[in-house]
Order: sequence, then structure tokens, then C-alpha cells
Amino acid sequence: MNTLRILLVTLLAIGSGFAADLTGNWVAESPSHDGYVRKSYFDLKQEDSHVTGHIRTGQFYYTISESSGTPDDFTITGSMQDGKNTRQVHYQGKLVGDELHMSTRRRPDAPLLEVVAHRAPQGEGAMPARIDPPALHKVPYNGLAKTPPMGWNSWNKFAGRIDDATVRAVADALVSSGMKDAGYTYVNIDYTWDAGRDAQGNIQSNNKFPDMKALADYVHSKGLKIGIYSSPGPNTCAGYEGSYGHEQQDARTWAAWGIDYLKYDWCSARNLYTDDEMQAVYQKMGDALQASGRSIVYSLCQYGRQEVWKWGPDVGGNLWRTTGDIGDRWESMSKIGFNQDELAPYAAPGHWNDPDMLEIGNGGMSDIEYRTHMSLWSMLAAPLIAGNDLRDMTPAIHDILTNREVIAIDQDSEGHQAKRVAKNGDQEIWTRPLSGGAQAVALFNRGTADAPITIKWSDVGMKSAPKKARDLWAHSDVKLGKGDYTVSVPAHGVVLLRVRK
Ligand code: GLA
Repeated sequence: MNTLRILLVTLLAIGSGFAADLTGNWVAESPSHDGYVRKSYFDLKQEDSHVTGHIRTGQFYYTISESSGTPDDFTITGSMQDGKNTRQVHYQGKLVGDELHMSTRRRPDAPLLEVVAHRAPQGEGAMPARIDPPALHKVPYNGLAKTPPMGWNSWNKFAGRIDDATVRAVADALVSSGMKDAGYTYVNIDYTWDAGRDAQGNIQSNNKFPDMKALADYVHSKGLKIGIYSSPGPNTCAGYEGSYGHEQQDARTWAAWGIDYLKYDWCSARNLYTDDEMQAVYQKMGDALQASGRSIVYSLCQYGRQEVWKWGPDVGGNLWRTTGDIGDRWESMSKIGFNQDELAPYAAPGHWNDPDMLEIGNGGMSDIEYRTHMSLWSMLAAPLIAGNDLRDMTPAIHDILTNREVIAIDQDSEGHQAKRVAKNGDQEIWTRPLSGGAQAVALFNRGTADAPITIKWSDVGMKSAPKKARDLWAHSDVKLGKGDYTVSVPAHGVVLLRVRK
């Protein structure tokens, strides 16, 4: 009876085209110009007419949850848990000889991505075994970032098109443009700098960065500091190598190169850890950095999940992202920036809320909007990490980024983050106490038409008009009358004042 059933199932399978078998581990390789080979793995098991297994692509590791079709025309859906969300990927595939042709779209309206996978040894590309996170303890403060870090990062403008020559040119431009003198110090390399590990597990830079130590020496010779990027997961967000299981070793390597700043991006750690475990995972690198013997600013990048502002300092973090990625658009910048009000209590010298890096000068906003971006970030005591091409700035962008009176607000030694004190439709007033009894007052017009905004001095905690007021964009003192002060603020614009009783 059993033999008969097996025979029947086999015959049916052959009849339905399942004679060819998808079972096995398949790898699709896409080499990139920096020598890094991006690999996607399809570890499939075909049972009768359905397929189970895993898909690993970039930072994501999916379990196949649905399948249909036959080997010469099938679809599979992979699912994974990412914090509170479920992520899915859909592939259409066909077996052609001993090649697996797979196609997918990143979004329903995105172009079709096609890859050809070949058989790979079983186990290659599998997620590494989970290393349990350590017990929580308090990592001591490293004494850095007494004011919000200022510098530059490659991601917003260059994404993966960053290399040694560009970093050197940016360092040169920081000096020649006067940005260094205005306080911008860190030159930070974001993703796509590495090439995996050598036989001893040491992280290697790729052919875009032939000698990281020499590059760090160059940046230091300009009186600047240099930053790097990694992930607590096995991969960074684009699939490059992460520090998983190599935290101490990587921290030692970076220290030996002369690295001064680490941006540590959650990325593929989501495959191995729940959000509840983030603190312990970030603590591990906090400890590793401190054990490295070098002073390294620790920047947490986990998109503001798990109320990071409450535990960022405990893992040795100097700054932590409070949101998802910023885009070079008014909607993105203003939505992020004006949403930071409640986080004010968590900013303090050494420990900063990070609403993401500056888009100033990247072309997606007007100069008025970029002035609002710079003013808002300075009011928020946010890190000022420029993200534009510093070799090619208009005078207006240069003046926005180097406005020292505005930077002085951001860098105020007391480190208080601004709060919203008044809101009337699209018009908002935010204030920030400054050292020496002064106050920064920002009048923001989020509307699409110019509008008058009135400050009632009582809203700002003052009994009467202050004796001194200075307009930090006009670079001139403002003559105030006795009563409330009304000023016209352009659409999407700001008037930023420094006042003193
Ligand atoms: C994440 C981070 C970004 C940038 C990219 C690089 O999205 O939030 O700031 O580092 O990764 O892949």
C-alpha cells in the first residue's frame, strides 16, 4: 500500500513538472566595483509541490513562508520579524539546466531585479549561530562629545560612491572652506568601505580604501578626526561585513588605524536579536571601544527604536539616532525635526539625541528651507554632520553651514535641547536656554505662505521684552519695543534670535 502511494506521488510530481528538484543551496553573486561580492542565498528544500527553506539577501534573512508553481515557474515568499514589523520578499524563479533564475522587485513599482544563482555548498551563507547578548551593566562615560559632534559623513551625498581620494578631498575642503574653523571636525566614512575578513578574522578595507591607517594619518594631519561605520549584525545594511562576534577585534583594528568615531548601525542584527535585546548588543561594542585604548565617539544608529534615549548613555553611547533616515526633502526634514520636542530631557553634554545628519546643500530644498534645517538642528542641540559635497558648495550653502552665531547655539556648553513653547497652526516658537542666562528663540513658519509671528515674552518665560536681541541670520541687533514682538517669517522659513534680559 505504502509503495503504491510513493509511486503515485512520484508519478504525480513528474507529471506536474517537479521531476527537476530545487532542493539545495544556491548562491547569486553580484560583484561591485570595490571588489566586494554581494551574495544572495536561496537555501531551498522542495517537498512534493511546495518549497521551504531560507533566503538571505543583503542584511535580511527570510524564512520561506509561501510557495507555489513548478520548478520551471515558481514563486516563493520569504518572511522575517523585524522588531514589531514583519518584512516580506517575493521571488519569481525558474530552474534552467543547473541554474536558478530568480527575479524580484524591491517595491511593487520598482524595476525587476534579476539574478542567476548556482549551486553552493550546503551551509554556505547560513546565518551564524546566535551569540547570546551579555548581561546589562553600565558602561562608563568616555568623556567625549561634551558638545554635539560636528563634522561630515559620506552617506547622504555619496552613498556607496565613497573612496580614499574623496575622503581626502573632503578633508581638504573642510579646511579650505573654513568649515573646520567653524567647528566641523569629524570626517566620517559610512558604509561600503570593507572587504570581509582575513584568515585571522581581521576586518579588511576594500580596494576603494587601500590603506586605512594612511588615510587616518592624512585626515589627522589636517587637524581633523576620522570616523567609520559598522553593524552589530553579521552584515551592514548593504550586506557588507558587520562586527558580529568580532566586536573586540574590530575595535582594536579601528584603534590601530587611528579611528576616532564609530557609527554602529543595527541593520542585520535584526535577524538575530529582538528589540528588547538591543541595549545589551550595543553595550557589547561600548565595552569593546573602551577596551580598545583609544577615545572613540560612539554613535548608535538603530532608528530611534526601543526608546534608545533612555539607555543610550548606559551603553557608552555619545549620540543616538531618534528617527528613521532623513531625506533631502522639506517633508522629511520638517517631520523629523519638529517631532523632537519630547526628547529634550534626554540631551546633555556627552549624550545627544541625533535626528540624523544634515541634508543642507544636497539640492532637494531651498536655501530658506536649509536655513530652517540648520536652525532647528541647532536649537535641538543635534550633532551637525554635514552630508553634502564640500568641494562644490554655493556661497549661500557655505554661509548656512558656517554661520557661527547659529553654531554657537548648537554648541552651547550647557547642552539644553529646545522645547516648543507656542504653536499657532503652522507657526511655532521654540526656545532654548543658553549659558550665561541668554536664550535662543526660534520663530518657525511651517506654512506655505509668508506669515507674521508674534512672540509674547511671557511664553518665553520673561516678564517684559528683553534688553538685547540679535537676529542670527541677519547678523544684526534687533530693536525691540516694550510689548510683544511681531516679525514676518517667510514660508518654510525661520527667524532665529538670541535674547538676553
Ligand atoms: C542606514 C542608516 C543610514 C546609512 C545607511 C547606509 O539606513 O540609517 O544613515 O548609514 O544605513 O546603508
